[in-house]
Amino acid sequence: MSAPLPSLRTPLPGDGAPAGFPGVAAAAGVPAAPGPTAAAPGPAAAVPGPTAAELLDFVRRTADDTALVASLPLDPDGRTWLRLEGPGGSEAWLIGWPPGTGTGWHDHAESVGAFTVASGTLREHSLAASIPTEGWRTLELTEGIDRTRLLATGQGRAFGRHHVHEVLNESGRQHAVSVHAYYPPLPRIRRYSRTGEVLRLEQTEGPEDWQ
Ligand SMILES: [Fe+2]
Repeated sequence: MSAPLPSLRTPLPGDGAPAGFPGVAAAAGVPAAPGPTAAAPGPAAAVPGPTAAELLDFVRRTADDTALVASLPLDPDGRTWLRLEGPGGSEAWLIGWPPGTGTGWHDHAESVGAFTVASGTLREHSLAASIPTEGWRTLELTEGIDRTRLLATGQGRAFGRHHVHEVLNESGRQHAVSVHAYYPPLPRIRRYSRTGEVLRLEQTEGPEDWQ
């Protein structure tokens, strides 16, 4: 994607385990992936937040709330959004997508998340690799790590930390509406351009950019 990145005021969703970065051919400054270690009991753990599967359950139930979905104003000229109360302190959004709109490539830092389509159809392009979050500006991706899926009304997905993707409404005529949830609430989003197999970090956004 060589065009300027679309301005984004909404966080948008992501997959991948934090250990190791398969699929990344060149990543300057990336530390070696840790090997398996014996589980060492740490300090008393805080109450765990919702899992990606639980967030997926939430977005599915929310997408079934037809009155809520219908309450989202739709704008033919741009995306619209409504902040929702997610479960367990998570961040959630109802997002409207006019035909032809999309997010550009981005990640969700250390947050896990889920999204589902409440109406219309969305395309997700993603990487089947966990991308290191620091210490690089451009990455050459190996072949075969691109994934794509078409999500029709009622279909969704969960994703893990460091998921990198873009979401698009490829329809020429039909608006789409989707429900998204993230935990922890998004601390930042990294935005990328994509030229062939090269992913380039363009910008990092924080909550002040989309609140
Ligand atoms: Fe996203």
